[in-house]
Parts: sequence; structure tokens; C-alpha cells
Amino acid sequence: MHQENKNRETKKVNQNIKPLNTKRNEKGNLEISGVDLVELAKTYKTPLYVMDEVTLRQMAQDYKDAFSKYEKTRILFASKALMTKSIAKIFSNFGFGFDVVSMGEIYTLLSSGIGLSKVSFNGNNKSIEEIEYAIDNNIDHFSVDNFLELKLINDSAKKKNKVQKIHLRITPGIECHTHEYIKTGQIDSKFGFDLPKVDSALELILKEYKNLNLVGLHAHIGSQIFEKDVYSDEISVLLKEIKRLNDKFNINLNEINIGGGLGVTYVEEDNPYSVFDIADTVIKSIKDNCAKLNLEYPLLYIEPGRSLVCSSGFSLYTIGSIKTIEGIRKYVAIDGGMADNPRPSMYQAKYSAEIANNKKNAKKETLTIAGKFCESGDILIKDIELDEAKQGDILCVYDTGAYCYSMSSNYNRILKPAMVLINQGKVDTIIKRQTLEQLIENDVLLDRLK
Ligand code: LLP
Repeated sequence: MHQENKNRETKKVNQNIKPLNTKRNEKGNLEISGVDLVELAKTYKTPLYVMDEVTLRQMAQDYKDAFSKYEKTRILFASKALMTKSIAKIFSNFGFGFDVVSMGEIYTLLSSGIGLSKVSFNGNNKSIEEIEYAIDNNIDHFSVDNFLELKLINDSAKKKNKVQKIHLRITPGIECHTHEYIKTGQIDSKFGFDLPKVDSALELILKEYKNLNLVGLHAHIGSQIFEKDVYSDEISVLLKEIKRLNDKFNINLNEINIGGGLGVTYVEEDNPYSVFDIADTVIKSIKDNCAKLNLEYPLLYIEPGRSLVCSSGFSLYTIGSIKTIEGIRKYVAIDGGMADNPRPSMYQAKYSAEIANNKKNAKKETLTIAGKFCESGDILIKDIELDEAKQGDILCVYDTGAYCYSMSSNYNRILKPAMVLINQGKVDTIIKRQTLEQLIENDVLLDRLK
């Protein structure tokens, strides 16, 4: 199905496993953007999350360029993929807005000096506290997921004497071929209004909820998508629905948000389209559908998360114990695992890796990379061919920029790693390593137990 992609001449950022400018330097060590990864691990300790700013900016620029052919595009970074103050600021400086789903994501933006004028609030169960916080801070719009939220947002806006802009999130009934847990567009989903319920929502908005201003529709079909046609299908559903609602209710909806989902290359078999391919498909579909339905071109929102940050990120670990079960398997344990990258244990996600230090002349072997957490399921990579590993070697796991730090935990009370941003030989810490004091700062030891 993805055969046509195989013949691409130049791969784009999300189609590469490694960040731009990855090579072996004269010492035989892996070097990315002018930074020797062995030195980096020595100075900043492991485990360590690393983001390459050059690759990150290239991907952001590619998104901008690809969608520049459709002027009415607004790019929102889906901050659930990776929310930190510096990363947010980089995207904000690019002119991007944000898709947020919690008070914590909003707070991070505000504390980085980023206002909410380009922010969309998503999610299927926003609390009253979150809704009020977002309205108080002048959020641009909510993507309303259900009937309860319509009421809560209207009540809250009314109390504050405001009229709040909203989109309605619909479930377009589109299946894409990705992991069950990260599909969202199919009918049986916890997200959004299914199409038969949309009219009742419209009636309520128009008759009762005077503090809501509905301007468009939103959908998101899933994540780590390797298909293009699902986007045309989605756009066709959204625009047909807009046309139908405009006609039936005599209103003028003219915004669509098509969500995120573009895939990345974790392992050689992955074959995602580039953002240019997707942009062309999306734009063509909008134009075709608008011509067919006699609609004005809508304002288009896109919400990429993974594809904007994944390929610029990687993780460094130090190899510790090694266990060989003769004739069966060789386990190589690292100093991190499922708490800093839960994706393999949650979604059977696959990763590519390399030993960063000089391994010239080492023989190759098939290894299983085990985490250090107390669970048999804490396996980061099963059966990967690597240079023969030794205790003290530095392992570089690629494509950990998305949904790793943001989904990390303190399981086993292990400290969360630091994150550094590298750029042509320069290194800056953007998240400090957690400390033991921080780990227990919210614990309360009861006086009566002392
Ligand atoms: N918009 C909405 C409404 C979403 O729910 C999501 C992701 C995105 C945009 C961004 O999708 P992306 O471009 O990143 O595919 N933790 C999972 C992925 C969960 C995605 C949740 N929603 C993973 O690690 O694979």
C-alpha cells in the first residue's frame, strides 16, 4: 500500500529514523548536530532525553511550507506529545498555536509568556475548573466534545459575560490502521458527537446557549497514520456536514479542524507520508469538496503532535547488567525503561537504537534491551541487531521526542531524566533532572505515625 513512498528521492524529517546531521565522528562516536553523544552522556548523565533543535525547526518549517499553499491554515501543536516551556516557545515563535487538554498544559503556556489567543481546548471531560481557567485567560476556542460540556461552557461564559467561540468535535466514522488505543475516528469512540446527535447539539446552541458562538467542526481520526486517503475522507465528512448544517439551520460555519495523526518512522518498516504529501491531499480535498458543495474555502486548523517532535528526539542510556540465556536470548539492561518511555509496554511500540560509543570491529549480535523497572514487561526493544554490548556502553534510542517525556512516570520511585536541547555543538538543559527531594515533596508523613 505504501509502495509509492519507497521511491522518495529525499526523505523528510518524519520519514527518517535519525535526526538530521547524525554521523560517526573521528573518534568513532555517534555525533548529532555537532554534539558527541558519549561526551553528552558523561556530562549530563543518563538516562537523558535529547532534542535536536535543528531537526525540530526543520520539521516546523516543513509544516509551514507545506501548508503555505492554503493561506487559511492555522497550525496548532498538539502539546500532549511534548509540553515543556522551551519547546512551546520555539513553536510559538514559529507562529504556531496549541491544542491543549488540561490546565497544566495551559499553565505551562502562560508561564512561558504565551497567551491563549491561538489555543484550542480539546478533551472529552473538561472540568468546570479547567473551563473557567481557560475562559478567564481568554482561550481562543473550545472543541466541545459532548452535551455536558456545551452546558458547562455556556454557563461559565454567561457568568463571565462573554460569548465563547467553540467548535463541535464530531466522530466522523473513519477507521485508520493504527494501534487500537490510538484510534479515535471510528464510531465506537469515547470522543465527540456521533453524527446523528449533531442536530440536537445545534438546536441547543441556537435556542438555549446564547453564550456560545459555534464557528466550525473538529475531528481527529487517530495517531501514527500511514495513509493519505483517510484525510480526504475526513474532510469530505466535515465539509458535507458543514454544508448540511448551514443549510438546515441557516448559519455560517466556516472552520474545520482535521486533528493530527501524521506518522513517523520508528523502524525501517514504517513508511509514513511526508507532510508535503499530506498537505497536498488535504488542500486538494478541501478545494474539490468546496467546489462540489458550493462552499467558501474554510479556515483550516491542523493539530500535529508526534510528527512535529518525534524524530528530533532521542534518549541516551548506559548499559548495565547483561544476562545471557544460552540458545534463547541475551538481555542487556539499561538505566531507564518503561517509566521514561512507556510506549513499548503500552502499545508494543518498536524503536531503533545504536550504541553511541566507538564499536569499530565489534561483532553484531541480536539483543533484547530491558529496562530496569520491576516488571517482566519492561522491555524497550525486543531482538534488535546491535554491536556486541558491554557494561558502560551508551545506548542511543531514536525517535523518543513524542509521547515519552509527556507520558513518563515515577514508577519504582525512579527520578525523571533531564532533557537537553542541542544545536550545532551547543547544549542547553530544558528540563532539569528530578531530585530526590522533589520526589517526596508532596508526601505527608502523619505526625501520629512518627
Ligand atoms: N488532536 C487530537 C484531538 C488528539 O487527540 C491528538 C492525539 C492529536 C491532535 C495529535 O496527534 P498526533 O499528531 O500526535 O498523532 N500516546 C499515544 C498517542 C496518543 C495520541 C492522542 N491524541 C502514543 O504514544 O502513540
